[in-house]
Amino acid sequence: MSDKAQLIIEGKTYEFPTIEGSEKEKAIDINSLRDTTGYITIDSGYKNTGATKSAITFLDGEEGILRYRGYSIEELAEKATFLEVAYLLIYGELPTQVEYEAFEDNIRRHTMVNEDMRKIFEGFPVNAHPMGVLSSLVSAMSAFYPDSYDEKAPDSTELHIIRLLAKLPTIATWSFKKSQGHPVNYPKNELDYCSNFLHMMFALPVEDYKVDPVVSKALNKLLILHADHEQNCSTSTVRLVGSSKANIYSSISAGICALWGPLHGGANQEVIEMLEDIKADGGDVAKYVDMAKNAKTSGFRLFGFGHRVYKNFDPRAKIIKKAADEVLSKLGVNDPVLEIAKGLEEAALHDPYFVSRRLYPNVDFYSGIIYRALGIPTNMFTVMFAIGRLPGWIAQWKEMRTNKEPIGRPRQIYTGATPRDFVPMNER
Ligand code: ACO
Repeated sequence: MSDKAQLIIEGKTYEFPTIEGSEKEKAIDINSLRDTTGYITIDSGYKNTGATKSAITFLDGEEGILRYRGYSIEELAEKATFLEVAYLLIYGELPTQVEYEAFEDNIRRHTMVNEDMRKIFEGFPVNAHPMGVLSSLVSAMSAFYPDSYDEKAPDSTELHIIRLLAKLPTIATWSFKKSQGHPVNYPKNELDYCSNFLHMMFALPVEDYKVDPVVSKALNKLLILHADHEQNCSTSTVRLVGSSKANIYSSISAGICALWGPLHGGANQEVIEMLEDIKADGGDVAKYVDMAKNAKTSGFRLFGFGHRVYKNFDPRAKIIKKAADEVLSKLGVNDPVLEIAKGLEEAALHDPYFVSRRLYPNVDFYSGIIYRALGIPTNMFTVMFAIGRLPGWIAQWKEMRTNKEPIGRPRQIYTGATPRDFVPMNER
């Protein structure tokens, strides 16, 4: 392979170095492009733009491969705990027993949230979307830990990382409790991370709550599957906000907002709502496949289908589909939307429209079905995604800071009016 790329503009030839990653992906390094040629590149949606070099997550969308720090998603989902994966993503290696216990213990000791945060929370209307509440409260955390934005304070990043991992599940459960008219639960530190979350969600003051190991195991798997996905929309947002040296809470809060969108993490809520609509409409899968094929006129997309990077089966979707079958059968749940989902997948995978565009089920297609079986309400699905994605956002934020990346600031090609004279209001 040549180590230079040539570009001919206005008859002049310029050379740019090429870069190869550890998995042989190739890039042209155009850092000097504007200075040497006067040109910039336009790349809507950044489909061809590498924003950074990263050592955290590798994915090959053609082959359907996903690895965190070199470990396959299939193996991690089967064998690891979510906190082990969080440690791996953030610190680069799987923890030893001693490291793991210290990490877990540290997280346990920070699960409580400042009582004044509750006062902020109480001001939200009962029907506020939990994602809006979550991003607001994470942003508010910066106010409780001002050393997070004080450049002169000693570096306390590691503590903020622990606080985020420890407190996000606590805060996340508040919205659900409020929507039910129930008191919020304090964390119970004898429980593991997933069980503690389930306890805070479902325990009531009037009776004992025992965490079902089938449920906590399924949750552990789902969180691992969501833990990182290289430079997606929310992660790029976290890195971009953080590149201005904004504190970690603000950066993660911005990532939560980006995740909320229905084209990104919000799709898991949309999928279940779509499957419910199909069920209510008599379960006519073919009708909805046809509507999706006419997306341009119908404005309807099959949520949970298609991916910017995967042009093959999303490996996470394969694991989740299998887990959905297992979890529903172990819990004895018979959810008719699972059958509709399978029918939809079957129809779409054989339809030339989807085949030619290489549209496969993505991670969100089956995750909502499992969340529902675990008792998580639909409007909390994207919050679950955020809890899972948190270690990835943190790892990416940390990497960006450690590598001292410059502030992110894309350029543009201006297409507006050329210079003109100001017209006084009475002459317009
Ligand atoms: N249903 C029907 N048609 C689709 C779908 C879909 N779900 N997704 C893409 N297409 C079609 C588009 O209409 C387009 O067709 P055309 O070539 O005739 O114009 C073609 O496939 C390419 O689609 P784009 O939107 O250009 O692909 P892009 O890479 O920009 O978008 C995205 C990827 C946003 C995920 C898209 O597939 C989508 O909207 N899917 C539904 C939402 C969803 O499930 N999002 C979750 C993604 S996973 C995650 O973020 C965790």
